[in-house]
Amino acid sequence: MGFFGTDCATCHSNTARGSSAAPGLIGYALDSKYADQPLYTYFDYMRSNMPPGNAGWFTDQEYADIVAYLLELHGAPAGDAELEGTEEALSAIMIVPTPEG
Ligand code: HEC
Repeated sequence: MGFFGTDCATCHSNTARGSSAAPGLIGYALDSKYADQPLYTYFDYMRSNMPPGNAGWFTDQEYADIVAYLLELHGAPAGDAELEGTEEALSAIMIVPTPEG
């Protein structure tokens, strides 16, 4: 789980379902809040705001790796290649709600 476990899970929980300290990052967040938006929106929010006080701490590829890990936890189908941490690549992927939630 890489950086997620050490730098995000303290607030968002190991399952990324959230805690009293922070909202869930998968489930509702991906099925509803960020649904029908490019993956770049989700990535850019993270890079610009997380972790609080240390936004932009990671490289773009490291943030993309966190996004890939979260998509896996969410149960999204895996792509055949590593998720690339570029605006172009992330803008080309749309977040689609999971059928039946
Ligand atoms: C110190 C606690 C804390 C840590 C550590 C933290 N977050 Fe957050 N995160 C929050 C809080 C609080 C919010 C809600 C902010 C708001 O609504 O304004 C949030 C919101 C988010 C959101 C937006 C969720 C939504 O529903 O829009 C994402 C995505 C996110 N965090 C990802 C991360 C990632 C990735 C990391 C690790 C690199 C991380 N966070 C580390 C506290 C934290």
